[in-house]
Amino acid sequence: MIQIAIMGLGTVGTGVAKVVAENAKQIERKLGEPLQVKAILVRHFKDGPYRQLMTDDFKKIEEDDDIRVVVETIGGVEAAYEYTKRALMVGKHVVTANKQLVAEHGCELLELARKKNVNYLFEASVGGGIPILHPLTQCMAANRIDEVYGILNGTTNYILTRMVRTGAFFSDALREAQAKGYAEADPTADVEGIDAGRKICILADLAFGHQVDPANVPMEGITKLSLRDVKIAQRAGYRIKLLGRAVRLPGGGRTAYVAPHLISEDNPISGVEDVFNAIMVKGNATGEVMFYGKGAGELPTASACVADVMECLQASPKREEIGWSSETAGFEDPLELHTRYYFRIEGSLTDAAMAFGQVEVLSEDGETAFLTDRISGQDAMQQSKFLNVLACMRVLA
Ligand code: HSE
Repeated sequence: MIQIAIMGLGTVGTGVAKVVAENAKQIERKLGEPLQVKAILVRHFKDGPYRQLMTDDFKKIEEDDDIRVVVETIGGVEAAYEYTKRALMVGKHVVTANKQLVAEHGCELLELARKKNVNYLFEASVGGGIPILHPLTQCMAANRIDEVYGILNGTTNYILTRMVRTGAFFSDALREAQAKGYAEADPTADVEGIDAGRKICILADLAFGHQVDPANVPMEGITKLSLRDVKIAQRAGYRIKLLGRAVRLPGGGRTAYVAPHLISEDNPISGVEDVFNAIMVKGNATGEVMFYGKGAGELPTASACVADVMECLQASPKREEIGWSSETAGFEDPLELHTRYYFRIEGSLTDAAMAFGQVEVLSEDGETAFLTDRISGQDAMQQSKFLNVLACMRVLA
């Protein structure tokens, strides 16, 4: 019998307990032994099926030598960071879905895990149930990764889909996403692009091999997005999606950011709806590879956590290819990127042409909306100072 502990019994922690119980036979067949949850760390005791396993004392997990893997689903940094370090220090593997902790302290926690000859695995921290970090670091290991971009937040994609398809109000769609267990405890992190920002930092860390500090990554969510722009974009053959992007720049630098984008309907990412996430990875040998699946929710996210638990326990004890350097130099402002921009302005097309030269007109009936040629972010900001800008977004090229 192999025993594990779960820290935190929210949506993902509960999902982990359920997957371990419901898929016990498949898990045992693959591990060669049954897997059992021995303890669950909670702040407050609650009645229910896991009552007997609950403890509010981390020491009971830390000092229990039978517990070989700890699944951290507390979320946030403070307690999660402390308990993760302590669990690694005493030689337990740690598995997590906590993107904030990985984005902010992953490099250091991986280093500690390496010293203690155990694993710190976090497949569930990006893309929920979609396998992305293993393929990026293993299957695509022979590539130079030039870009990773994708729809990385299920809550905002769900809200956008509901608003566009059924005309639902933002607040109602958000409430639905919360009820389905997609949203963060504080949904501001979802709707303001912070959750997607943490995920693009982790993807950039692994893709480029250098620490990307979330504090340096501009993050914009969907709260300022107008349905007017969605309609104008759709008429012109584009969809608007919230994307996280990490790009290798021509001069050798790297950048990352989160913002709504216009995406051509020819790009399969444009059709990704509801809670689904999709991540496109551009390798110099593979070309574009797309990963698609449910990006949030109890069981998809738990599936990734339990797979990591199983990996910790299987033959090869340590994952050497997961990790990155703490060196942050080479990170540049995303305004360095050259791309086409969408603008909606209060003013005329003559104003637009005076600022940007030739533009592609998207809408003239009462609106002035257009696409620029490929320009740098600095030029877009500089030239738009002469206009009364109502909306501005990058176009995914
Ligand atoms: N709140 C996150 C989302 C959960 O909506 O994508 C999964 O990380």
